Amino acid sequence: MQGRESETAPKFGLVKYEMNQQIKVIPWIADLDKIKILDTIKQLSSLQTRFHQSASGFKASQLIYDNWTELAGNRSDVKVEFISHSSTKQNSVILTIEGNNPQEKDKVVVLGGHLDSIAGYWGGSSARAPGADDNASGIAVLTEVIRVLINRDYRPEKTLQFIGYAAEEVGLWGSKEIAQKYKQQQKSVYGVLQLDMTNYKNGATDIGLISDYTNADLNQFLANLIDTYVHVPWQYTRCGYACSDHASWTTQGFPAAFPFEALKDNMNPNIHTSGDVLEVSRSNADHAHIFSKLALSFAIELAK
Ligand code: BES
Ligand code: ZN
Repeated sequence: MQGRESETAPKFGLVKYEMNQQIKVIPWIADLDKIKILDTIKQLSSLQTRFHQSASGFKASQLIYDNWTELAGNRSDVKVEFISHSSTKQNSVILTIEGNNPQEKDKVVVLGGHLDSIAGYWGGSSARAPGADDNASGIAVLTEVIRVLINRDYRPEKTLQFIGYAAEEVGLWGSKEIAQKYKQQQKSVYGVLQLDMTNYKNGATDIGLISDYTNADLNQFLANLIDTYVHVPWQYTRCGYACSDHASWTTQGFPAAFPFEALKDNMNPNIHTSGDVLEVSRSNADHAHIFSKLALSFAIELAK
């Protein structure tokens, strides 16, 4: 089956995604710490598995909840919550920074990635599934972006949400329920960034922008962010199917983008095995660090 190519939303003569926050983005990018990203990948991949039906997979959500709660500190406009699901016992985790502009706070900017892992096609609750790249690396990027934003006492105009999705590996279950709920509640989702696999460098292209099941305007915006703030080679590439949580948002009509760690053909061959370990990425988080720059600039430039 052919994937849907990205769609351009009607513009009504308005530039929807505008870059004008250089004064914050450039200095704040310098705060992003590779070692902190590495530490989170180590912490999550040291669990036996994060499979959605396993006890350690349940614990993974709690670990992320605890990490994010500690980072949130005592600000009354920041909260961390579990989102429970009807399809699985594993919880999603969500950190919200409430928008501080009354005219803008109803708009929501989402950065997310799945928190589960899987071993083999059928999964299993006891098989070793470190999921260092898929997708401890995405959660580690989200965590480091949260740390920098809170440390800088960031107060966005729009509402900003970071989500660790449950049970992606068995059919995008967590993100599907969340995107459906947002649609039902008629939330105004301004843009969604998916981070799934960020720490495996293979080839000259550091960022592959997934062009199917994503939004063309948001992709163009990401391309501009990369050229302005990240300064690495990027190219469009296709997944070919609804391969990650961005597709859950696209299906509900929300604009989503998915910057991937390489061209699809150069993807990490170890995912979904006991071999998806940090050593494959030379035990460093250099590549994920690139994605933290992109994610930080996305958050600031979209939520302002
Ligand atoms: N991280 C992968 C998706 C992926 C793989 C994206 C390779 C780009 C390149 C994700 O966790 C995954 O495995 N998704 C499932 C799809 C789902 C509907 C079960 C997959 O690809 O099998
Ligand atoms: Zn994944």
